[in-house]
Amino acid sequence: MSQRVTIERIREKKKNGEKIIVLTAYDYPLASLIDRTDVDIILVGDSLANVVLGLESTTQVGMTEMLHHAKAVRRAVKRALVVGDMPFESYQADPSMAVVNARRFVEEAGCDAVKLEWFDECLKVAGDIVRAGIPVMGHVGLTPQTAQKLGGFKVQGKDAAAAREIIRNAKALEGKGCFSVVLECIPSPLAAMITKKLSIPTIGIGAGKECDGQVLVTHDLLGLFDRFRPKFVKQYVHLNDSIQEGITRFCAEVKKGQFPDASHSYAMEQGELERLERQNK
Ligand code: KIV
Repeated sequence: MSQRVTIERIREKKKNGEKIIVLTAYDYPLASLIDRTDVDIILVGDSLANVVLGLESTTQVGMTEMLHHAKAVRRAVKRALVVGDMPFESYQADPSMAVVNARRFVEEAGCDAVKLEWFDECLKVAGDIVRAGIPVMGHVGLTPQTAQKLGGFKVQGKDAAAAREIIRNAKALEGKGCFSVVLECIPSPLAAMITKKLSIPTIGIGAGKECDGQVLVTHDLLGLFDRFRPKFVKQYVHLNDSIQEGITRFCAEVKKGQFPDASHSYAMEQGELERLERQNK
């Protein structure tokens, strides 16, 4: 097994100009597969709500669901850095509970760090969690937990004033000790500018190729989620089609009595079978 990824290694990657690769995972099987690749960070994202639980909004998952899934991911991951995404209720609904809940991600679920999205009290909350000794990944630009306030799921920072605010927020999160910051759905030149200005790594999603790293929702890139697909998603394989095909073939073989065949069934010794038949008359 290659070496465990540490926060230090993530910082070093920016210094060396090596790209940082981040993917989401919510369960043991996918997390195990991802951990055997070059992915540096596995994010137990609150996108769990949309791509696994069939909910409309990420604000509909809470600590119970997030910890449950983070524990499954932790059991699988031996190498990558595991980041737990703090759900809306755990810090935005009541910022005074943020440190307690961040600690639960680390102590109960075994996460290495937490992520939180920008909101009015984000700087205080991020600073408190960092001071408690828990590494924090920030998230600016399009922040799904407060998307309604931002006018919906739209590109952010398109005019100079809005762009300046995103730069300020990213810089302030660096000042609070965050080890990295996600830039979601902002123009590529703005992301490039932020990436140059910050000493901590930027992780882009819909933010162009100049970011220090890239993140995607795994179910999107694998073609496992098709309820909606933002422009920034690239589907590398179409697992929905393969799964559908496998299940359709299973149904057809069961209906025709072709499954299970002898190679998927258990035989019985002839003598024992005859004894059973005699006793059963
Ligand atoms: O919840 C999530 O999956 C995320 C990523 C899209 C960054 O926050």
